[in-house]
Amino acid sequence: MAVVSPLMLVPDSDGLDHAAGLLNAGTLVAFPTETVYGLGADARNGAAVAAIYAAKGRPSFNPLIVHLPSVQAARPYVHWTDAADRLAQAFWPGPLTLVMRLRDGHGLSGLVTAGLPTVALRVPAQPSAQALLRAFGGPVAAPSANPSGRISPTTAAHVHAGLGGKVAAILDDGPCAVGLESTIIGCDGAPTLLRAGGLPIETVQAALGAPLATATTPVAVTAPGQLASHYAPTAPLRMNATQIEPGEVMLGFGPTDGALNLSPTGDLHAAAANLFEMLHRLDATGQPIAVAPIPVHGLGRAINDRLARAAAPRS
Ligand code: TXA
Ligand code: MG
Repeated sequence: MAVVSPLMLVPDSDGLDHAAGLLNAGTLVAFPTETVYGLGADARNGAAVAAIYAAKGRPSFNPLIVHLPSVQAARPYVHWTDAADRLAQAFWPGPLTLVMRLRDGHGLSGLVTAGLPTVALRVPAQPSAQALLRAFGGPVAAPSANPSGRISPTTAAHVHAGLGGKVAAILDDGPCAVGLESTIIGCDGAPTLLRAGGLPIETVQAALGAPLATATTPVAVTAPGQLASHYAPTAPLRMNATQIEPGEVMLGFGPTDGALNLSPTGDLHAAAANLFEMLHRLDATGQPIAVAPIPVHGLGRAINDRLARAAAPRS
């Protein structure tokens, strides 16, 4: 079968209508959010959701995040706790995902939740994502739009390079402003950090007025973001490098400079926004990548988490 290249769409009213129509027809549409590009499908359509797993080459036990345009639209799907309500009011739309217990009659495909009694919900802030979700008018299941285990996409070009032959259309709205996947908080019980991400956990804890629990036992599912090797370039990656070794290419931060620098001024927001783009670029050199030390506070926690997984031994 011929490999069909995806339709490249821009988020004007024609492009958004077209993208919404493709979602309605049960096909895959990659779309921008403020965190990373998502690979979207109608979350109620089992065949469409199955196509996400096939396109990514993703182990099918990993559940997906369901995207909605507002807190209001998210209400009916789940049982809300006080903490979930507080977090949604404080941070939606934004780079936060809440895992909550499903309500009966939710209508989502069982493939979205991988059969779990809970579901991950997110209301993205990116105006083009908001517009697409409103034009479509239903829940959109979307993992990051990259082949499973590889570097996440923060531009339409990354999506095209990774999944170009496997997606009907790509909605191009430029680079993602946050550049790291959403922070995931489990809210089926005491609020629990499931994945560090684009919303610093200090900010989440300030809103809750209490520290977050961390998952002590492995979550029932092994989230892809929790697998040892993930977010990985082709070549090996080494963290906390203060000096370059022969053959390596260096990714700098602050005064520790390199071929590229995540943020010469040591700004963690800039570093987050640059991380995946710079990893994609350095990966293209084919050389092992050495990464300068990144502080472990604020967004630095999620940056170090992604780097640790990229550096982990490959299976
Ligand atoms: O920023 C983001 O979150 C991006 C954009 C596209 O929204 N999406 C994203 O999706 O990163 P993905 O599939 O790459 O990561 C979703 C994470 C996985 O680690 C998955 O296991 C976890 O959410 N997850 C989903 N449902 C869950 C559940 N019911 N319980 C625990 N973890 C869940
Ligand atoms: Mg991902």
